[in-house]
Amino acid sequence: MRKIVLVVGARPNFMKIAPLFREIKKSHYFTPILVHTGQHYDREMSEVFFKELSLPSPDIYLGVGSDTQAKQTARIMIKFEKVLSKINADLVIVVGDVNSTLAASLVSTKLRIPIAHVEAGLRSYDRTMPEEINRIVTDKLSDYLFTTSKDAGINLLKEGIDKKKIFFVGNVMIDTLKMLYPKAVGKNTLKKLGLLPQGFALLTLHRPSNVDEKASFEKILKAVRKILIHIPVVFPVHPRSRKQLKHFQLEHYLLDSNLKVVNPLSYLDCLNLMINCKFVLTDSGGMQEETTALSIPCLTLRDNTERPITITLGTNTIVNNDEKKIIYEVNRILNGAYKKGIIPKFWDGNASKRIIEILRERI
Ligand code: UD1
Repeated sequence: MRKIVLVVGARPNFMKIAPLFREIKKSHYFTPILVHTGQHYDREMSEVFFKELSLPSPDIYLGVGSDTQAKQTARIMIKFEKVLSKINADLVIVVGDVNSTLAASLVSTKLRIPIAHVEAGLRSYDRTMPEEINRIVTDKLSDYLFTTSKDAGINLLKEGIDKKKIFFVGNVMIDTLKMLYPKAVGKNTLKKLGLLPQGFALLTLHRPSNVDEKASFEKILKAVRKILIHIPVVFPVHPRSRKQLKHFQLEHYLLDSNLKVVNPLSYLDCLNLMINCKFVLTDSGGMQEETTALSIPCLTLRDNTERPITITLGTNTIVNNDEKKIIYEVNRILNGAYKKGIIPKFWDGNASKRIIEILRERI
């Protein structure tokens, strides 16, 4: 059987790899080998996802942990090279845009192992984001580029990528969302947190541009304080943001009784809250897509997005970290005047099936 190495490293990778792993198993044509780099390592950021997504324990765990951009990427490369040179792999699948994606792609290409990049072609055109650099380099090195939307394909063509390598297949993260929706609905997350359906907003934050600079972080926290006058907010705090809150001495913003501060949520709890909330306020890439798939309003705390389809078709609006814009859109949501959005093509639960079919024909 042909061997496919699937690489995961950080939280947003797990829900993308899970449906691919399942389809590979079902195909009886490929053997999957799951490699976890250990970029995310806390129980709440990693282990709990394996259980909920029915992913087996990784075949290989690299345990790289956190460090600066260069050291983390380099450490993954060194360890992954050792592992990959011993496996006679026919293909390496990488997903998304995290440092593990970039590091694994660099190693694979030098060992002459073909690469499939799932979620290729997304561009924010903002090179201050580490993820944008990871996306550009990974796409340049990949042999199969699987896209979630037509605009991603156009970005790749503009960069001179051969159109024979580009396949518009849809969104694997939505495969996971559709599959686990009934389970998520059945969780008692609201009760545990003392919330009512539609009676709260969900906030997540972790981008360096928002949390690594005191002024930006504080601007967002001030805007949240205004929102809290109208509606309670649940804030699962990413480890990076937790550190920075302490470092910048901004923790006093968390003391409002309408703000529920919790640890990072499991996939099912997070999905449950997305389904039941009035709106999401976030700088996450994945949640912009998940809210569009769920038709839940999403306000994105960034200056740009690599996922424009969530704005043109979906329920997403860019609000930067601008209090005026944020409050304007919150009011529209609370008054029922916010846009409704439609679901993009191929965000239908079958993206990973399409990917494995394409790979079967070609490998
Ligand atoms: C990474 C990805 C980002 C993705 C995000 C999802 C890169 C460049 N960034 O950002 O694209 O959206 O994951 O979460 O790959 N930490 C812990 N425990 C953990 C993981 C991290 O305490 O399990 C701490 C680390 O000490 C570090 C900080 O969180 O200081 C950031 O972790 P890192 O992996 O550098 O990037 P993220 O901000 O999580």
